[in-house]
Amino acid sequence: MTDKRRTIHSFVRRQGRLTTSQRRALLELWQDYGIDVTDQPLVLADVFGDCQSIVLEIGFGNGDSLCRQAQAHPHIGYLGIEVYQPGVGRLLNQLADHQLTNVKLICEDAVTVLQHNIPTGSLDGVQIFFPDPWPKKRHHKRRLIQPAFIDLLVPKLTATGCIHLATDWPPYAQQMLTVLEAHPQLVNGAAEGGYYPRPTQRPLTKFEQRGERLGHPVFDLLFQRA
Ligand SMILES: C[S@@+](CC[C@H](N)C(=O)[O-])C[C@H]1O[C@@H](n2cnc3c(N)ncnc32)[C@H](O)[C@@H]1O
Repeated sequence: MTDKRRTIHSFVRRQGRLTTSQRRALLELWQDYGIDVTDQPLVLADVFGDCQSIVLEIGFGNGDSLCRQAQAHPHIGYLGIEVYQPGVGRLLNQLADHQLTNVKLICEDAVTVLQHNIPTGSLDGVQIFFPDPWPKKRHHKRRLIQPAFIDLLVPKLTATGCIHLATDWPPYAQQMLTVLEAHPQLVNGAAEGGYYPRPTQRPLTKFEQRGERLGHPVFDLLFQRA
C-alpha cells in the first residue's frame, strides 16, 4: 500500500462526458473548493478553520449525498475525494449554489491521498458509501475495503474517530465486516455486533437508489477507533 507504482486500483478512470456546466465548474469553482495535493501532508486545521470536526468521504460519486450532509452539518468540515470528474464538476456546482463553505474536494486516488496527504490522527470520521463492489472473483483484489487499506486508514482517525461504510452487495458486506472486525484498534458500534441499523442522518445516495430499485438489501457498518 505504500508503493507509488501500485497498479491495482479500486476504480477505472471513466472518461464520462463532462457537461458544459461541469466543465465550467472545474475551471471556475475549483479555486474555491478544490485542493491540488502535492506529496506533502495537508494542514487540515487550516483548511477547515472554523469547523469543529473533520469527516472524509471517499468516492462521493455525483456528490448529492455529500452536499446534503454539508448543508445539514455546517460545523463539520467535509473533505471529499473522488476520481470521477463529472461527479466532481457536478458537486462543485451544488456547493456554489448552496454557498457552502465547509466542503473541500480532491480529485485523486484516495489511497495515494491517504498515503501522502492526510495527517495521522486528523479525521473524526471516514465514510465510504457504496464503494464499487467488483462482483467478479478475478476483480476482488480491486475492492477498496481490504486489510491493507484499513491499516492505512485507521491511524488517520482521531482517538475516537469512526469509519462508516455502506454497501448493497452482500458478499462485499461480509468482507467489510470480516476486515473491520479483525482490526485490533476498531470496535463495532452495533450493540450486538454485525451490521449497524441504517443511520437516519445518512442521505440516500445515487448508487443506493439504483440498488433500491433493483431490490437490493443495504448494509451499514459503523466502527469506532478503540
Ligand atoms: C459505486 S460508486 C458510489 C458513489 C456514491 N458513493 C454513491 O453511493 O452514489 C463508487 C465511487 O467511488 C469512486 N472511487 C473508487 N475508488 C476510488 C479511489 N481509490 N479514490 C477516489 N474515488 C474512488 C468511483 O469513481 C465511484 O464514483
